[in-house]
Amino acid sequence: MRHLLKLSDLTREEILSILNLADQLKFERENGIKNDYLKGKKLGMIFQKASTRTRVSFETGIYELGGYGLFLSSSDLQIGRGEPVEDTARVLSRYLDGIMIRTFAQKEVEDLAKYGTIPVINGLTDYAHPCQVLADLMTIREYKGAFKDLKMAYIGDGNNMANSLMVGAIKQEMSFTIACPKGYEPDKDLMEWAAKNGNFKITEDVEEAINGADVLYTDVWASMGMEKEKAVREHDFVGYQINGKNIKYAKHDVMVMHCLPAHRGEEITAEVFEDHAKEIFDEAENRLHAQKAVMVKLLK
Ligand code: CP
Ligand code: NVA
Repeated sequence: MRHLLKLSDLTREEILSILNLADQLKFERENGIKNDYLKGKKLGMIFQKASTRTRVSFETGIYELGGYGLFLSSSDLQIGRGEPVEDTARVLSRYLDGIMIRTFAQKEVEDLAKYGTIPVINGLTDYAHPCQVLADLMTIREYKGAFKDLKMAYIGDGNNMANSLMVGAIKQEMSFTIACPKGYEPDKDLMEWAAKNGNFKITEDVEEAINGADVLYTDVWASMGMEKEKAVREHDFVGYQINGKNIKYAKHDVMVMHCLPAHRGEEITAEVFEDHAKEIFDEAENRLHAQKAVMVKLLK
């Protein structure tokens, strides 16, 4: 593993190995065991979109490992004024040990990896959010003990989260069902892959998706960059919500997850969100541990 560009590049075993290291790093941190696996290493963090969790967990994470994180807002970089990504990649490779990037097009992340000579980590694109899903898998394993044959149901937009969760769930032998409105399906190639390689279902019926679920997941109706579609989406996604009424169709010990930020009253009710705040914020915390593991794997 040279980069983390998307989850489909990783084998089941590579994912498990990251999760095992993440568990170890979490244990060490909770027990005051300091380590500097990345002493002196420098991670550049390019952001073309807003972030709370990704920015703070990467910056804190590299610091805790003895390294240094540079926050690089695209509005301050020449990339924001049109300098090609292939030049940015070659320049940053001369200064840094790794790059994390949050941007729009997946191609930009792939190009950064292609033209640079240092590891690249995808911190979210319109297509994928692999770091989030590693933290999600870590959290599911903490709560459920194992993955095999768990049912994950995703309610809402077939976006970057749906794409990456589908791959992560199927690779770990969970079943994956998505309920989304017509026209908002996940990536077609990934759905084909999922159907071929595991137990994958897509439906427009929210209750059918939730039925018997061990893990319920949802995300915003309008992702970053889709602000112009907000009103249309608020109309199209009515009913694609996890709420007190439909959660009853899930298993009694269902976990509810959300990558955050959450829009209460849209994809999830305030009541369900607060009832499941424990797992949702454990999930957010696990971003730190999972990404520390990714950085150790790639930068050490
Ligand atoms: N879940 C997530 O990536 O959060 P941020 O947008 O705050 O980084
Ligand atoms: N789908 C959301 C995820 C945010 C972490 C977005 O892309 O805005």
